[in-house]
Amino acid sequence: MANSKKYGINTRAIHTNTRVKLPTGDVMPPLHLSTTFENTQPGEYEYFYGRSGNPTRELFERTMASLEGVENYDEMHSFAMASGMAAVTLIGELVKPGENVVITQDVYGGTTSFFSKIATKRGIEVNFCDLDDLDKLNSLLNDKTKLLWFESPSNPRIKLFDYEKYAEIAHKNSTLLVTDATFSTPFITRPLELGADIVFHSTTKYIGGHSDSLGGVVTTNIKEIWEQLHSYQKTSGAIMSPFDAYLCQRGLYTVGVRLEVHSKNAHKIAEYLETSKHIKEVFYPGLKSNPNYSIAEKQMAMFGGMLSFNVEDHIDLKKFWESLELFKLAVSLGGVESLIELPRLMTHDNAEGTDAEIADDIVRISVGLENAEDLIEDLESALNAAAN
Ligand SMILES: Cc1ncc(COP(=O)(O)O)c(C=O)c1O
Repeated sequence: MANSKKYGINTRAIHTNTRVKLPTGDVMPPLHLSTTFENTQPGEYEYFYGRSGNPTRELFERTMASLEGVENYDEMHSFAMASGMAAVTLIGELVKPGENVVITQDVYGGTTSFFSKIATKRGIEVNFCDLDDLDKLNSLLNDKTKLLWFESPSNPRIKLFDYEKYAEIAHKNSTLLVTDATFSTPFITRPLELGADIVFHSTTKYIGGHSDSLGGVVTTNIKEIWEQLHSYQKTSGAIMSPFDAYLCQRGLYTVGVRLEVHSKNAHKIAEYLETSKHIKEVFYPGLKSNPNYSIAEKQMAMFGGMLSFNVEDHIDLKKFWESLELFKLAVSLGGVESLIELPRLMTHDNAEGTDAEIADDIVRISVGLENAEDLIEDLESALNAAAN
């Protein structure tokens, strides 16, 4: 399959091939664990050493690039990393001392931590900004701005950013637009096709899809950036293990259909929460009342499985967690099971004291693949039990 656009996305997920065809005729790709590979002559080989390339990891990297719409995905494959944070730090390597980055305030806590605690020590200026405030954003962008960075949907307020609009702003300033698309995956939005320059995902979430594999993946369609990232991937060494790559490749075969159910369930739950007397506000891009609904319609094939909400003051959150039966109080997202968490204390605690700090009454849920009615019933009875 030479052209990533020839087939639809579900077909591409299933039919992207390995670079080297196996003589055994495996229909499903095997798991290659060898850390070193035999050369035919010094310097002549298909694969050389596990850190620089592994057939299992490479298949996943080719498939991801194809799904993101990279035309020559067989050469410009994605970069599979040991975790979503290893993907963040890989991209961070592009920024030199004296340069600056502008990041949305509504961003994953680990990203906030990396930029505010580690990147700043390398002489990089880091600015967190409400990207809706275009005057503020424009005042921060200058010829030293290497990256403009957001998540869409964002974490934890599930805000959307219009890719085409921010790509234009970034490119006017010769800045790279980077997006964390963990909540959407290429089955919902393909940011590179909308003007973003680098897209990444924590594969720990929807792509792995079963809460049993840690990883991250970075994709770009700019050759010069690809070459730099390729070299950093090899030397930084935080690559995805073959077993995680095997699980992620397997996850890609079903993530499209899983997301259809995640999205349908989340939509029903958002509609229920919107009518509940215990809830102040629901954040879900599929609700017509959501301020980002028109952006969602424009750039999302489905609305996704993530939503958040603020509870009314009469809800005792301690009682609420204790009363839930199906929703597990746990961090992470994108698995088959429904999870619930309090971002202020659980995922965004390291944003405390920064401009990216989160309100303490915002609750985030990752809606799983259970029956929607059961999930609604679980939330309703727990909210009633927690009402003072
Ligand atoms: C949106 C987002 N980006 C990045 C990460 C980091 O990924 P990982 O935990 O795989 O390092 C997370 C983790 O929760 C996340 O939610």
